[in-house]
Amino acid sequence: MAERINTRTLLQMKQRGEKITCLTAYDFSMAKLIDEAGVDIILVGDSLGQVVLGYETTLPVTMDDMLHHVKAVVRGVNRAMVVADMPFMSFQSGPQQALENAARFVKEAGAVASKVVAGKPLTEALTIAVKLEGPVVEAIERIVGAGIPVMGHLGMQPMSAALYGGPRVHGREEAEAERILREAEAVEKAGVFAIVLEKVPASLAERITKMVSVPTIGIGAGPHCDGQVLVSYDMLGLYGLRLKHVKEYAHFFDEAMAAFKAYIEEVKTGKFPGPEHSS
Ligand code: KIV
Repeated sequence: MAERINTRTLLQMKQRGEKITCLTAYDFSMAKLIDEAGVDIILVGDSLGQVVLGYETTLPVTMDDMLHHVKAVVRGVNRAMVVADMPFMSFQSGPQQALENAARFVKEAGAVASKVVAGKPLTEALTIAVKLEGPVVEAIERIVGAGIPVMGHLGMQPMSAALYGGPRVHGREEAEAERILREAEAVEKAGVFAIVLEKVPASLAERITKMVSVPTIGIGAGPHCDGQVLVSYDMLGLYGLRLKHVKEYAHFFDEAMAAFKAYIEEVKTGKFPGPEHSS
């Protein structure tokens, strides 16, 4: 029986130096594929605003958008921990708002979690956690206080990119690096089970990883983090953006384009459907 990943197993992985893998998913089929491949954490990122919903930024994404996709992902997952991203303005108004919205993920998406693997009931429930961008210590404390695991997110925070003149590496200068170190300390104290470090220098990610007892999960943060996260559409070469921190493990955009063109051509010329596709 597959052992479900939870906050304890992730901590043990950090302690024994085993790297943690995390990928984003937004729908049932992709979540099922990623889970069966053996990824440890599936993040339903608010990056769905760009790669699924076609917005320019993550800012228009709503709680209802997120819930719709988190429920679909949960239906496809048996082993990985599922982390739901708290969207813009779902937690910035204060700890009570943050708790109420975090609880919606656990109650509403938790209700659709599958209960058996290979016909056998699981002894542990699927873990549904939430991720909050920024050092929002009081909100984190309130959510953790209610028993919901929280993942932090420091360094580049896409929700506040407008404040800094767009996406960029954070923490190159010592003063900014010091601030991010203090933020990591603060969110760890507030109770996060892991911290995403986005677009920070590898040397800073290494300092933070050594300083905190919880796992760090890097994106554009070098090799020293306890784990790595990528947007699945980016690593599959599906979204069409070439980003420095992304390694494309497949080129699905080009392959899908070729397949769609072949289909159009074959329908237009009468090659498809052939006798083998007809009854
Ligand atoms: O929304 C997202 O996909 C994320 C990752 C890039 C960490 O927050």
